[in-house]
Amino acid sequence: MIDGDISDIFHVSTASINNLGVMNMKYNPEIPRAHYDQYGNNEWERLEKDRLGELLYHVHLDILKRYISNSDVVIELGAGAGRFTKDIVTMCKSLVTSDLSPIQIEINKRKMEELGLIHKVKNFMILDISNLEDIEDHTYDIAVCIGGSINYLFDKEENAINEMLRILKSGGKLILGSMSLIGALMYYLNGVLYEKGMLGIDATEWLFTTGIQDEEHYPVENKHYAHMMTSKELDALFEGKQVKILEKSSAGLFMHSQEETLCSAKQDQEFWELLIKKEVEFTKLPGTLDCGMNIIYVIEKL
Ligand SMILES: C[S@@+](CC[C@H](N)C(=O)[O-])C[C@H]1O[C@@H](n2cnc3c(N)ncnc32)[C@H](O)[C@@H]1O
Repeated sequence: MIDGDISDIFHVSTASINNLGVMNMKYNPEIPRAHYDQYGNNEWERLEKDRLGELLYHVHLDILKRYISNSDVVIELGAGAGRFTKDIVTMCKSLVTSDLSPIQIEINKRKMEELGLIHKVKNFMILDISNLEDIEDHTYDIAVCIGGSINYLFDKEENAINEMLRILKSGGKLILGSMSLIGALMYYLNGVLYEKGMLGIDATEWLFTTGIQDEEHYPVENKHYAHMMTSKELDALFEGKQVKILEKSSAGLFMHSQEETLCSAKQDQEFWELLIKKEVEFTKLPGTLDCGMNIIYVIEKL
């Protein structure tokens, strides 16, 4: 249905979308904090409770393994319950892990304790990526911010990018993950159609055009307000910065086969292994970039 970027389809530029939408939306840290405080332990289950979660896990893990080495000083931002903390901590020289939600950081600490990894984590911090003032410039070799923290930032998106780049050494790398607007629209189209019945076609067009769920234009009941992004918007966030984009990947492509099919696929071990291998491979093809649940960029600070 959608070929290319949504902003092309609606004949508006990303800049004007930003002017109309994201830039007008004010970041409210209470929204993600309250959501993830309440989400609690579910965040630990998120990447193993269904096959989509498994696909996402494998694609992210592959990228982390290829860019993090045992000489790296790493910070994890928006770490949640620690699904990737437990892996990153075994790959690097030292790790500080952090999140906006105090509850998520408590769970992360507890999980690392249970896994016997707590002594390897240098610090657990409560940090908001829009303002990392407690961290000095040029501190880290790698900053990992995956799973969508960037999608709650609205008018502070660029602040967060600047902050994450600021705390990196030159030559350091930012591994950034965002929720993908087009992938999510395709996967959840049934839900979008249902919500159209409650919110109307103008709200639906707003969502397709901007990727924004907000109080004014797309007031979802759970108040989980966020800005899902296209790769074009991610590109715009790095435009004019002293960076080189090393890699772009989608994640969760085979989610479109739906859970039931994926569960059957998993019954056949050699088929499942092949599927994961191909998920990792196909997510690197430019034509798939916006089609998964997430978009991941690896950025080098020059
Ligand atoms: C979907 S979870 C992802 C957790 C983990 N990184 C992963 O990929 O499994 C998103 C996390 O981002 C955190 N978060 C949201 N906004 C944030 C912000 N402004 N600064 C730091 N963390 C934030 C949430 O509290 C939540 O734990």
